[in-house]
Amino acid sequence: FGLVVFASGRGSNFLALHEAARDGTLPVRIAALFSDRPGCAAVAAARERGIPTVALRPRDFADRAGFDRALFAELDAFSPALVVLAGFLRILDPAVIAPWAGRIINIHPSLLPKYPGLDTHRRALASGDAFHGASVHYVGAELDAGPVIAQAALAVAPDDSPESLATRLLAEEHRLLPAVVDLIARGRIALDGASVCLDGQP
Ligand code: GRF
Repeated sequence: FGLVVFASGRGSNFLALHEAARDGTLPVRIAALFSDRPGCAAVAAARERGIPTVALRPRDFADRAGFDRALFAELDAFSPALVVLAGFLRILDPAVIAPWAGRIINIHPSLLPKYPGLDTHRRALASGDAFHGASVHYVGAELDAGPVIAQAALAVAPDDSPESLATRLLAEEHRLLPAVVDLIARGRIALDGASVCLDGQP
């Protein structure tokens, strides 16, 4: 079960997947790491570990859709069973992702449908939420939308800052994302139209 992981920055979720795959707890092979930032830490981490990388610069393309088409065209060489967006900081062209419907997931640091977009930890604190969390969802045409597969929640403490929340949540993300990929790789989770099915049940 081959994965291609897309990342734009630090790449800690990519590394969580890589480590689980390497130690055999996750039955997948990471075929490649794709990025829109050739100089980012995720690309460096993949290279150090001998994982193929494809990193294109958006500024080398005439427009957004052209970049997305070029990046997704590179997927064919790896024929992944699943594409995992893990800290990939671009909104993808709906026409480019349409053929991947049901085979592309994203991790987002909020309890969706709350707080799509950026700055989620600060927004959860500003709203006085008792719980914050992360979601893994199938990617749809809208930003941070598409059927949610699973979430990890944590209680917000009175003295939490956006930074402390982000740090605690990241540890949860590193468990949540491999757990969801595991369910998909084992064929237990699938997308049926707009609903997520577990063991064939909506
Ligand atoms: C994570 O918080 C993820 O939920 C969000 O971007 C961050 C990526 O972190 N989409 P990393 O690059 O995986 O360390």
